[in-house]
Amino acid sequence: MKVAFFDTHKFERPIFETENEAFHHDLVFFEERLSKETAVLADQFPCVCAFVNDKLDRESLVLLSKAGVKLIALRSAGFNHVDLKAAQELGLVVVRVPEYSPYAVAEHAVALILTLNRKIHRSYMRVRELNFSLDGLVGMDLHGKTVGVIGSGRIGAVFAKIMTGFGCDVLLHDTNPDLDLAKRLGARYSDLDALYQHSDIISLHVPLNDRTRYLINKDSLSKMKKGVLLINTGRGGLVNTRDLIQSLKKGHLGGAGLDVYEEEEQVFFQDHSGDVLQDDVLARLLTFPNVIITSHQAFLTQEALSNIAKTTLSNITAFERGNPLENRVSFS
Ligand code: NAI
Repeated sequence: MKVAFFDTHKFERPIFETENEAFHHDLVFFEERLSKETAVLADQFPCVCAFVNDKLDRESLVLLSKAGVKLIALRSAGFNHVDLKAAQELGLVVVRVPEYSPYAVAEHAVALILTLNRKIHRSYMRVRELNFSLDGLVGMDLHGKTVGVIGSGRIGAVFAKIMTGFGCDVLLHDTNPDLDLAKRLGARYSDLDALYQHSDIISLHVPLNDRTRYLINKDSLSKMKKGVLLINTGRGGLVNTRDLIQSLKKGHLGGAGLDVYEEEEQVFFQDHSGDVLQDDVLARLLTFPNVIITSHQAFLTQEALSNIAKTTLSNITAFERGNPLENRVSFS
């Protein structure tokens, strides 16, 4: 099938090309992000392949539908960037990659904790400047600390398991608790208030939707322990960044490890090193010594990329052949 591949990055193209040797789709790679301005590139393509920061709002979808697109193949797990209602009304089928490596994301969350807690980002820079002082680098033992895991699905479960390996007590929170998981890990489910009250580290692994948007806000932050470390590898919109900044300024929040940011589509995945940063909220966040930001790279392992390519290409083949679409996302 002819596929218009939007927002192509150097890190993924060779892997898609290699995996496609088994699928034989006609992949045309565009560096442009998908939006109402660029949807015209998909003219005469039955399929577009979109990434997390492509804009699949109603306007773009209408244009894609007019251009002849029938299938939106997301090469991501999250689908909060797609107007599913509009897609359904337009008869556009949406498929995704529900799971490619929960380990990649969970391990990155742990990397953020270790870096933030042991201040590796600061010591790395210091030593390069021949500053071998230890002042200001004191961390805490993870052993015996309480870790709150919000969302105990695929990624949250792997993350929780890793943290039990450090000797942490794990509190889980999920609207759909997995009691077997809790039993296996020796963890327990908790309501959000108790999780906020007791956790030394809180990590977010829920999808972004109307119920979870700004889950972390002034109110929830005020319920957290002083000095808590907040880790977000979920979606930027789970956190009200302005409230986060206020909590950091007051010294209530002990630090934040963020792989996602609510306005990330303006900056992430691109080299802006020669530009003047226009986002004042992001600029303020970058001034904190106890904030680490990575640009949505938690998924970025060889294994994850290869799984993303295989599942995306096989989703397209299933659609082309009229086979059942196990990875379809529908409006509900
Ligand atoms: P999953 O669907 O396996 O797990 C999500 C869990 O959240 C489910 O157990 C669900 O019951 C729970 N949940 C949903 N709404 C909730 C609510 N309001 N309150 C409490 N729990 C709720 O998803 P998975 O694979 O674990 O991924 C989680 C999220 O991680 C994705 O939605 C995506 O946004 C993000 N992600 C980030 C990546 C990155 O590179 N930073 C890569 C992949 C996913």
